Amino acid sequence: MSSNALAFARENQSRFLEELKTLLRIPSISTLSEHAKDVAAAANWLAAELKRIGMENVEIIPTSGHPLVYADWLHAENKPTVLCYGHYDVQPPDPLDEWTTPPFEPTERNGNLYARGAVDDKGQMMMHVKALESLFAANDGKLPLNVRVILEGEEEVGGEGIAAFVREHGERLKADFALVSDTEMFAPELPTLCVGLRGMIYTEIEARGARTDLHSGMYGGAAPNPFVALAQIIAQLKDSAGRVLIPGFYDDVKAPSADELKAWASLPFDEEAYREHEIGSSQLTGESGFSVLERTWARPTLDVHGMPGGFTGAGAKTVIPAKAVAKVSMRLVPDQTPQQSFAQYKAYVESLKPKGIELDVRLIHSGDPIVIGTDNPYIDAAREAMHEVWNKDTVFVRGGGSIPIVGDFERHLKIPTVMMGFGLPDDNLHAPNEKFHIANYHRGIESIIVFFERLGAAN
Ligand code: BES
Ligand code: MN
Ligand code: MN
Repeated sequence: MSSNALAFARENQSRFLEELKTLLRIPSISTLSEHAKDVAAAANWLAAELKRIGMENVEIIPTSGHPLVYADWLHAENKPTVLCYGHYDVQPPDPLDEWTTPPFEPTERNGNLYARGAVDDKGQMMMHVKALESLFAANDGKLPLNVRVILEGEEEVGGEGIAAFVREHGERLKADFALVSDTEMFAPELPTLCVGLRGMIYTEIEARGARTDLHSGMYGGAAPNPFVALAQIIAQLKDSAGRVLIPGFYDDVKAPSADELKAWASLPFDEEAYREHEIGSSQLTGESGFSVLERTWARPTLDVHGMPGGFTGAGAKTVIPAKAVAKVSMRLVPDQTPQQSFAQYKAYVESLKPKGIELDVRLIHSGDPIVIGTDNPYIDAAREAMHEVWNKDTVFVRGGGSIPIVGDFERHLKIPTVMMGFGLPDDNLHAPNEKFHIANYHRGIESIIVFFERLGAAN
């Protein structure tokens, strides 16, 4: 396996890593409005980088939220067109005191690069950029196939802006397939294509009782408490066996095919090691009768993320808060839809309203679940490319997480997506000490180079 582009990537490994570090130093946290400037700075940096490597028509596209970055290079006649997608926004880094080194000071340790966004998704998005740079540099400023790049800055908050852009300007993203590197390998050294993602609805339940906060001694016993109300509601959303109790919630859940289940059963999965090293709890929970992989990939679920309101400082304050909020999300699987699931949930929550409490059930964002067909030449070429780089057969998995735009690529652009990701199960996505295995950054770049070269060589 050798090509000028691969040689270029190998010679430039340390620079490629330094450039990723530069991007990682920008705290582009999409959910915190005080970081909007940083999100914009990351977009500008990427636009300049795309221009520098040889991409054309580089544009920063404003949206209702954070901007998109677009670029293309469309001079490979009669060759396929790829739409490279990535997101340059990151999750908040808290709790800060659990980071060994600060989240926005990328640090190398034990062959890993530690930083918020290292793997999700700045590092993986940069693999695309660096693969394109290598291909341009080694082929006199030409690429083996046509490329469009679209990068978003609000994936972690639902991706409304890119969804609207795809709906309204789909023709600007016309391509034969999309390449997304925002998923994980099933195990170290095991090349993996992800062929399904769960969808989600992210909601808030606001409960209001008294007109204002009250002294809990003077009024306790007579005034409704919104936190107790939320606790009572939440306790009825899921039973102790892990089953969601919303009426109708499972009606449209489609079981995975027998082939898929068989393939999952043969994956190298050690449930006890997973409990110990990835979860770190005394026991695993969830629906009985389903394996862990089924429970996290092919079954819907419901979780509570936080309950803002009331008194959360150190020490004690005797108050009955006037209002409280619960952040509740559901992961959805085919053929559930966000619209129907939210309607079922809202009606059920309202039916559980305790005495003296007013409820507001709001949808914050949502995304459709998706399973992608594997019967296309792009998946075949991806497999072959990964075999060349990793010297192993590729496994097909689903992901329990969500990347809302992938469903829109399929439904609106009518193109398949190749989800070729190089994260590892212990990369700590969304958690303290997020990392990217540095060898995977470089082998990811090489995999993409070989993938694009194969597609350019065919027909
Ligand atoms: N890259 C993840 C999604 C992911 C992780 C897919 C691992 C497959 C395996 C993505 O950045 C993410 O975290 N998405 C959010 C989306 C949500 C906020 C709409 C998620 O899944 O919580
Ligand atoms: Mn991601
Ligand atoms: Mn994420």
